[in-house]
Amino acid sequence: MGALDGKVAIVTGAGQGVGRCHAELLAEEGATVVVNDVTDAADDVVAAITASGGKASAFKGSVANWADAEELVNGTIAKYGDLDILVNNAGILRDAMVFSMTEEQWDIVIDVHLKGHFACSHFAAMHWRNAAKAAGEGGVLKRRKIVNTSSESGLFGGTAQSNYGSAKGGIITMTVIHARELGKYGVDVNCIAPRARTPMTEGSPMFAKPESGFDRYDPAHISPMVGWLSAPASDGVNGQVFIVTGEEIHRIQQHIVATSIRAGQQRWTLDGITANKDQLFAGMTSTDVAPFGSLAM
Ligand SMILES: NC(=O)c1ccc[n+]([C@@H]2O[C@H](COP(=O)([O-])OP(=O)(O)OC[C@H]3O[C@@H](n4cnc5c(N)ncnc54)[C@H](O)[C@@H]3O)[C@@H](O)[C@H]2O)c1
Repeated sequence: MGALDGKVAIVTGAGQGVGRCHAELLAEEGATVVVNDVTDAADDVVAAITASGGKASAFKGSVANWADAEELVNGTIAKYGDLDILVNNAGILRDAMVFSMTEEQWDIVIDVHLKGHFACSHFAAMHWRNAAKAAGEGGVLKRRKIVNTSSESGLFGGTAQSNYGSAKGGIITMTVIHARELGKYGVDVNCIAPRARTPMTEGSPMFAKPESGFDRYDPAHISPMVGWLSAPASDGVNGQVFIVTGEEIHRIQQHIVATSIRAGQQRWTLDGITANKDQLFAGMTSTDVAPFGSLAM
């Protein structure tokens, strides 16, 4: 008996890396998984899942293409009768400093991440809202799940990642917006920021596999949290963001107002702000941008 028996799931960008591990874990837990990717690797993942006794099929297409996203979602519903879980994971990198980044590098990264997350969520949300309305007042509201994929770059701002970090930050905000919009239709929308060794990151020595001991950057370590956020055990967990890596799960607190100054029934002057600067930055040792990853982990 799996935690996801009878569920239908889509995992985008699941031909390799973290997405492949998600697809395999969801299938192990009993879900029927639609493995999306732009490459033929989706077929290998389906073959591996099927060989292990799981249920899966491939959909080749780009999440950044509106028509492909529609076909991915609506084709899944037509084929399997419903959709319960959407894991938005597909991603690419095109790193460059602000002064070097080309329009093409900007557009493609924003498209794959931000538009790709939105397009798949849009078509899933249309179906789920219609289903909730058809169930009517007093009807049983089926629980649904979206798991989005951000990055620490989206939380802390990675150097040379204006495109990627902005898209990933946007995905966090989109998670909160969709959580607010879809909660009443029974949909929980949450977000992870993974850290793992995959074709995207394996060039960095930090991710190297140790000769012995716990291999903390094995991408398979990310997937149990995605499985949990897809399962009934997490019902009501909505609009939350987690950094997930190795043995660690960190819950991120939403932006909060840290300090306030008030001018008292009049607008501020520049001199007035200077005079109150210490109060505005109270508790901070520096007014410079915080170091990357300054979260206490
Ligand atoms: N690996 C990490 O440490 C890390 C850190 C932070 C965030 N992430 C995020 O996790 C997700 C998975 O990353 P990964 O490390 O497994 O990367 P990866 O490059 O190994 O895999 C990404 C997959 O997405 C697919 N893809 C790319 N564009 C697509 C599109 N338009 N439509 C459908 N599929 C597409 C690729 O073909 C590939 O199979 C990404 O969103 C990435 O930004 C990863």
